[in-house]
Amino acid sequence: MLSNIPLNLLPMETIDIANLFSEKVKVIDNLIHLADKSNAQNQEQTNKAFSEKWQVVSSSSTKEDRKKAISRQRKWHLSLYGFKSAEELSFFLTSKEIIIDAGCGLGEKSSWLAEMSPNSLVIGIDFSESVYQAAEKFKEQKNLYFVRGDIANTKLKKNVADYILCDQVIMHTEKPDKTFAHLTSILKKGGEFSCYVYRKKAVPRELLDSFFREKTKKYSNQELWEFSEQMTALGKQFSELKTQIDVPDIPLLEIKGGKYDMQRFLYWNFIKCFWNEELGWETSTYTNFDWYSPSNAKRYTKKEFETMIMDNHLQIKYFHEEEACFSGRFIK
Ligand SMILES: C[S@@+](CC[C@H](N)C(=O)[O-])C[C@H]1O[C@@H](n2cnc3c(N)ncnc32)[C@H](O)[C@@H]1O
Repeated sequence: MLSNIPLNLLPMETIDIANLFSEKVKVIDNLIHLADKSNAQNQEQTNKAFSEKWQVVSSSSTKEDRKKAISRQRKWHLSLYGFKSAEELSFFLTSKEIIIDAGCGLGEKSSWLAEMSPNSLVIGIDFSESVYQAAEKFKEQKNLYFVRGDIANTKLKKNVADYILCDQVIMHTEKPDKTFAHLTSILKKGGEFSCYVYRKKAVPRELLDSFFREKTKKYSNQELWEFSEQMTALGKQFSELKTQIDVPDIPLLEIKGGKYDMQRFLYWNFIKCFWNEELGWETSTYTNFDWYSPSNAKRYTKKEFETMIMDNHLQIKYFHEEEACFSGRFIK
């Protein structure tokens, strides 16, 4: 049996990827096609929004901007999931035979993981068209496969994965609680699950975000890009103010008092209008589009996230919180 062979003697070539699925799947080169449509209206809209976003990001970004964005994401990734360095993450991955990148987008992180751990088999899954670009771009990496399908129903066998990464994705799925339970079910006992959720913000910001999500369902991509650019322009204006304000505690609105930079205060408590000088106009606009375009975008309180982890009988190995999110690494 495969599982009796020590890991260091188990190059990923010995794994038959089709065997990991509970149904017959067709593997064409490095790609498996499970599903490209959702019956749920919001999920379908969300898939289309991300297909559009990834298409524009991959075709319009300059190489320099992409490099900057990827490098920023990698650095952030380490702190989200409790790794002191890329070397530590690489060492962690080496003991993982099957790695799933659930909601892989353009596959940049899947590729990074596969590169860091050449004896692991990495499978990136996404419901948007981005998987085709990912499969093409990373076809030379022999330990890396891509699947188009729903991470809430991966058709993978139970207890098959050693490590699952679900980075900035689960809240975009139709029923995040069900997706979380499904991903836990395909994880081996003792396996680890890294997951990130959006954090609930102050009341005015939540109200505005919910209001907007109702609109996105009816907006065309062009209208969404125009709106995203307007948000970038607004964020840029706010950040140029360079004004400090002293805010009282306003418990009714869940606004925490203190000294704030004006832009940060408005951003976190009233309206998301991302602007980052270093990343520039395009990447800032992609970030605004990423926030506003998918109609599925659930936000969590800390308690709600912890409950989801506990309900699935996972043990918390590492927990991280920021103004925008909660994330961590959990053991089955
Ligand atoms: C914000 S992006 C994150 C991509 C990548 N994990 C990263 O960190 O760069 C969210 C991704 O989740 C994907 N997604 C949303 N719902 C999904 C679902 N039900 N199944 C698979 N992928 C999904 C989207 O298509 C999109 O590529």
